Amino acid sequence: MSVQSSAEANATLTLDELQARLEPHDQQHLLRFWDSLDEAGQTQLSRQISQVDFGQLKTLIEGKDKAIDFGELASRATMPQAVASDGSGCDWTLEQARERGEQALRDGEIATVLVAGGQGTRLGFDQPKGMFPVGPVSGRTLFQFFADRLIAASETYGVDVPLYLMTSAATDAESRQYFEENNYLGLKPEQVIIFEQGTMPAVDASTGKILMSEKDSLALSPDGHGGTLRALDRNGCLEQMKREGHKHLFYFQVDNPLVELCDPVFIGHHLLAKSEMTTQVIRKRYPTEKVGNVVEVDGKTQIIEYSDLPDSAAEMTNEDGSLRLWAGNIAVHLFDLKFFDRMLQSDASFPFHRANKKVPHLDESGQAVTPDSPNATKFEQFIFDLLPEANNTIVCEVDPAEAFAPVKNANGAATDTPELAQKAICDLHRRWLRTCDVTVDDSVKVEINPRFAMDQTELQRKSAEVRSEIDGSTISDDRYFC
Ligand code: UD1
Repeated sequence: MSVQSSAEANATLTLDELQARLEPHDQQHLLRFWDSLDEAGQTQLSRQISQVDFGQLKTLIEGKDKAIDFGELASRATMPQAVASDGSGCDWTLEQARERGEQALRDGEIATVLVAGGQGTRLGFDQPKGMFPVGPVSGRTLFQFFADRLIAASETYGVDVPLYLMTSAATDAESRQYFEENNYLGLKPEQVIIFEQGTMPAVDASTGKILMSEKDSLALSPDGHGGTLRALDRNGCLEQMKREGHKHLFYFQVDNPLVELCDPVFIGHHLLAKSEMTTQVIRKRYPTEKVGNVVEVDGKTQIIEYSDLPDSAAEMTNEDGSLRLWAGNIAVHLFDLKFFDRMLQSDASFPFHRANKKVPHLDESGQAVTPDSPNATKFEQFIFDLLPEANNTIVCEVDPAEAFAPVKNANGAATDTPELAQKAICDLHRRWLRTCDVTVDDSVKVEINPRFAMDQTELQRKSAEVRSEIDGSTISDDRYFC
């Protein structure tokens, strides 16, 4: 259960070896269809079985791993020290943080990793979520939003900031094809490194037996974004980053078009604090907002996921009526790569989180079963469970109106929909434009590509260009500045 990289178990085991491996764990049924498989099928199944850590899985199935009482944890939780968006809460100024971050960017110390292995089921989009068209005027996809921001940062700082893109079996082929067919979205091909995350077998919720999706395949699902570190290591990405002089990794997830990718101020806070893992948070807009809760317990910063936090704990208030657990995780982290090395070598164990899901599988006779209620347990690790292990952790608050508009649910839902994200983008960019003495009505959609201006300050510097583009000082039709 440690984060240690599992040796690549690519050897094809013989039938006897496979039986010897499965028997102590009572999983021999995985070889039920062995004799009916051709050589390719036997090889695939053998490889899959040899990659499973059966000892670890047994502990999980038997529930012998550490059970955490999140309600109890929350009752002892205080707030970690947070640097506010106005710069208060630290020993340096915003300007010093910006300068330090810009220097690190110019020196090529920063690489980025985008986790995009999730399937976007809630959104009801059947392609990788990164291919979702979210631009309110441009129709740009989420992937294009991130690429544009990286292109802008690379131009500003005179370095090619690399994008490590983590996919899963469900998103890998289509994501690769999308980047290839679209000229790497304007990035240099060598700037985009696509790698696939690991898997965990799904088990029958009542018997603990591993489910089979095909006669020659286990029912495998992504091992959670906690598998990012292992996958980066296994695929040689960490080695590559170090070889190329990168020292810190900017982590973000696929659903947030407003992510302030490579924000120099955030990077500067991380560096000036000598933090091994820095996390961006928002002040939760209501107690049960579906964001992880960043807290401090026993002197360690950690995140209690919204689904683990009892409502009564989420609703706790301070004497002045303000929310006690106010800091919401927006899944933007900055890691010191030396911390990754330390974690890969440590035997610290990180929890697995369980999810009860409907998992199609084969029955004993090889017939396909499509369950209509949850039948299986999936196991996932979360990247943020690394937080308590990190030294000098700091938390940086950002304004959700500027940095967080996730696309998670289909239009019509109350929160986190494409329509709400598009509205947030237009609202923000209208505000920027108005600081350039431009008049724009709330009914007019505006969108600014970071290649035109990364932030309000850059847009203000370009005020004259904006006015000449709109031929005056009023925007009356939807407009995309790119
Ligand atoms: C996540 C965070 C939550 C945070 C919120 C902010 C988790 C468990 N929770 O919630 O604390 O407040 O985002 O928006 O992450 N992914 C993979 N591989 C996997 C699983 C997920 O790459 O095996 C990626 C997804 O593609 C996505 C991200 O991780 O980019 C988040 O996954 P998801 O499970 O949807 O978490 P949320 O419920 O959105």
